Amino acid sequence: MLILAIESSCDETAAAVALINDDTQDIEIKASIIASQIDIHALYGGVVPEIASRAHAEALSKITYEALEKSNITLKDVDAIAVSYAPGLIGALLTGVNFAKGLAFANKKPLIPVNHIKGHIAASYINNQIKPPFLALAASGGHTSIINVKNYTDYETIGRTRDDAVGECFDKIARVMGIPYPGGAVMDKLASEGNSKAIKFPSAAVTGDNLDYSFSGLKTAAINYLHNAEQKGEMINREDVAASLTKTIVDSVITKLDHAIEETGYTTLVVAGGVAANSHLREGLKKFAERKKLTLAIPALKYCGDNAAMIAVQGYYEYKIGNIAETNLNAVARP
Ligand code: KG4
Ligand code: ZN
Repeated sequence: MLILAIESSCDETAAAVALINDDTQDIEIKASIIASQIDIHALYGGVVPEIASRAHAEALSKITYEALEKSNITLKDVDAIAVSYAPGLIGALLTGVNFAKGLAFANKKPLIPVNHIKGHIAASYINNQIKPPFLALAASGGHTSIINVKNYTDYETIGRTRDDAVGECFDKIARVMGIPYPGGAVMDKLASEGNSKAIKFPSAAVTGDNLDYSFSGLKTAAINYLHNAEQKGEMINREDVAASLTKTIVDSVITKLDHAIEETGYTTLVVAGGVAANSHLREGLKKFAERKKLTLAIPALKYCGDNAAMIAVQGYYEYKIGNIAETNLNAVARP
């Protein structure tokens, strides 16, 4: 099956073409084009929703035809069009949904609605030989959820952040350190140069019998640390702040994953989303998986952040269960 997919939930406009073999379920990503708006939003220190929608509207057509051209196909060859319709910025999602609707109905192709979080997790099927059921962590700039993936389309969220997302925590602390939006990747590099035991920060794993996180206390503690040092005229060691913060985040994330693995009894763990690109988290998860004898699957770096290849892959499984959108498909901001 040839699937064309569109993604526009936040600050990347993306289009991709995936060829999926119905017998073997082998996945070939023929094209995955991403037009990033990061440079525009960096001027404001974060994503400006109205600007994001406008930039998507301008980029969608161009990158879609670029993806088709790179795959050496035309719209006629496509079997279905998948689009991410939720969750995300409502205006941003609407541009992609309306664009995909137009393409699908003008070309008489089925339109497949795809949940963006399911897409992130489906990115792990591209390079790994894994199959549901398994436990998954979706960790991005907008979401941090522990999910019981019962099968390719049936998901149950069993843990979540009660406030900020993990990527947001990285980005907001980075911003106070003068690092442009989104600061997660720079924090990753800084952390490699610092002492992770230099500063004690509070855990983001909520105490008690639950699978929830809370990153706002950790974020505030780190920002207070930075402000206090500034007020006293003390020099801060940026590398130590990044390393200590990263260690606290990695330990917190793994604490709840450990509980979730015990609770569900799963032996496969998938970690996806933009923050799954973090080298220290990847390393920590590898050790955790070895200790617990788990099969660990993390998407390749290029499929961790927002992209449309992941939407095409999840779209395939949605199509297989007959999840075809009506003409009244709407965008939904909440998960
Ligand atoms: O999945 P994504 O591209 O967009 C959302 O759906 O939110 O994730 C973006 C988030 C940002 O917060 C960014 O700072 C973070 O992923 N991120 C990282 C790294 N690379 C991206 N965070 C920590 N370490 C990284 N290497
Ligand atoms: Zn995302």
